Amino acid sequence: MKQNERIELIQKQLLAWYKKYQRDLPWRRSRDPYAIWISEIMLQQTQVITVKPYYLHFLKTFPTVKKLANAKLDSVLKCWEGLGYYTRAKNLHKAAKTIVSDYQCQLPSSIEDLIKIPGIGPYTAGAIASIAFDLDEPVLDGNVMRVLCRLFTIKTNPKESDTQKKLWTLARKMIPTGQASFFNQALMDLGATICTPSKPSCETCPISDCCKAKKAKLQHELPLKVKKKPVPHYDIGIGVVWKKNKILIDQRKDEGLLGGLWEFPGGKIAKNEKPQACVKREIKEELAVNVKVNNLLIIVKHAYSHFKITLHVYECDYVSGRPKAVECAAWKWVSLDQLDDYTFPAANHKIIAELNKKHQGNQS
Ligand code: ADE
Repeated sequence: MKQNERIELIQKQLLAWYKKYQRDLPWRRSRDPYAIWISEIMLQQTQVITVKPYYLHFLKTFPTVKKLANAKLDSVLKCWEGLGYYTRAKNLHKAAKTIVSDYQCQLPSSIEDLIKIPGIGPYTAGAIASIAFDLDEPVLDGNVMRVLCRLFTIKTNPKESDTQKKLWTLARKMIPTGQASFFNQALMDLGATICTPSKPSCETCPISDCCKAKKAKLQHELPLKVKKKPVPHYDIGIGVVWKKNKILIDQRKDEGLLGGLWEFPGGKIAKNEKPQACVKREIKEELAVNVKVNNLLIIVKHAYSHFKITLHVYECDYVSGRPKAVECAAWKWVSLDQLDDYTFPAANHKIIAELNKKHQGNQS
């Protein structure tokens, strides 16, 4: 079969399959570019099943771009709590302000304008342009990459720039005129449900007869797997500092992965340092406060994308010193009940749950 004939057949079979088997996802019930934009940002680093409730809650809280632009960043972060990669929420908020001020509250439709907006890269721009504005623009994420590498037996490293160029060119070439929205979403669904990373379901695949990898029995070998670097691990000492029935929390500086979020004070345990000594030292450095370190409350393990952490959490008594935001953006004394008003990174939620288990009912 010639390449053009193969592509035509793929288009026909994949669109027919999508008509019948498309996933019922909440953002597919909307034609509002704002709603589609929110869904695509959430889906950048998070699975569909996790995104669903967050998407519905976010749109209920901020139903329009204007409402989002006028909201406080803290309330946007609260809505994002637990979804991770908080830069996405900060960029959404910043972008909403730009869309209101520079684009008359309307998301732009062209790729050139879309990629100028904070948080929108080539993939998201293609998804918004095609799904929200029916423009014939391609998408290329991990799922689509896998499908294309198998369909066309692309054996080079899919992360390399030459392969990326080749894949984008193919993704563009494959779009049936005027039908990029459905076609792109069909590729996404195929990658998510059938052409999966391990054990692809070739027997139910609507385009298996066009798949070069299947023909060559290479579907399990492609895309080329590149060995990932081992991720570093850090031990962190954390203090829950009590002063009567109030707990000391601090807000991280605006930079970095979790910038702007609230946490219990602490930091990396140095080589040969005892966790208790680390807690005392870190709280002094971060907030200029002296504490007495008491019992171990909980040990929490958490994995981020580029590193893993183990939190060694100790309950402490406040001893002396008025807190000062030395190595943080702000600090507060709050009751156990008030913790819920602040946005904490996911690793801290287990600490809060443990505190509630241990102290709920002791609070006046
Ligand atoms: N992943 C990224 N964008 C998506 C979409 N629009 N539908 C399903 N999965 C996706």
